[in-house]
Amino acid sequence: MPDRTPYIAANWKMHKTVAEAAAFVDALLPRIAATHHDVVICPSYLALNEVVERSRGSAVRVAAQNMHEEQSGAFTGEVSAPMLAELGVEAVVLGHSERRQHFNETDEALARKVPAALAAGLEPILCVGESEEARDAEQTEAVLERQLQADLAAVESGALAGIVIAYEPIWAIGTGRTATPEQAQEACAFIRDVLRERGAVADSVRILYGGSVKPANAAELLAQPDIDGALVGGASLDPGEFAAIVDSA
Ligand code: PGA
Repeated sequence: MPDRTPYIAANWKMHKTVAEAAAFVDALLPRIAATHHDVVICPSYLALNEVVERSRGSAVRVAAQNMHEEQSGAFTGEVSAPMLAELGVEAVVLGHSERRQHFNETDEALARKVPAALAAGLEPILCVGESEEARDAEQTEAVLERQLQADLAAVESGALAGIVIAYEPIWAIGTGRTATPEQAQEACAFIRDVLRERGAVADSVRILYGGSVKPANAAELLAQPDIDGALVGGASLDPGEFAAIVDSA
């Protein structure tokens, strides 16, 4: 099995002003100076430039939390992949459940966003995950398969290894209810199987778990064979907690 470099991403959501983002980076960098992991920060659009500039020469790479699928056009309030790439942003979160729930992000839009990100040289971090109702109805695998097939429909199999997948069960996001390591491992292994059937070099794809990851539970989750990293919300807002999660991978 190829080595998969651990990938720990901080999803700040709608938190941190530019000044707060700068202070976070200054506090984080000395704490992760020795890491060989991929450390990714996803600030608001407004703080992207500050985080890119402040983290130059460190292990930190910067991701946006969303983008529009078109390169440019009459889409008031939107931001495109080439605009992000120009800033030195290297990745973009796509399909987060909060965007699917609150902003009508559809699988059809995602099927266009993923290739648009790749075309601009951005690494998509595609989020998938089931609701509590779907899990209770034993529909977890059906939901994951449907989302992956739809969102990756326009991606050639050779390009799949350049995509990071985040498994984020909706019932675990921001609730303090983490999936058990067994539940998370089972879902991530299933995702890898779906990618393999889609023709991906699936052993090279980084698959993250997200949903109430904290320093206290990160090591056990990250020790699972198919969990290659974490997408961290609440616990990523504090540099000490986030650095502890990076260290536990
Ligand atoms: P949480 O968020 O860690 O606060 O549960 C995770 C996410 O939404 O990516």
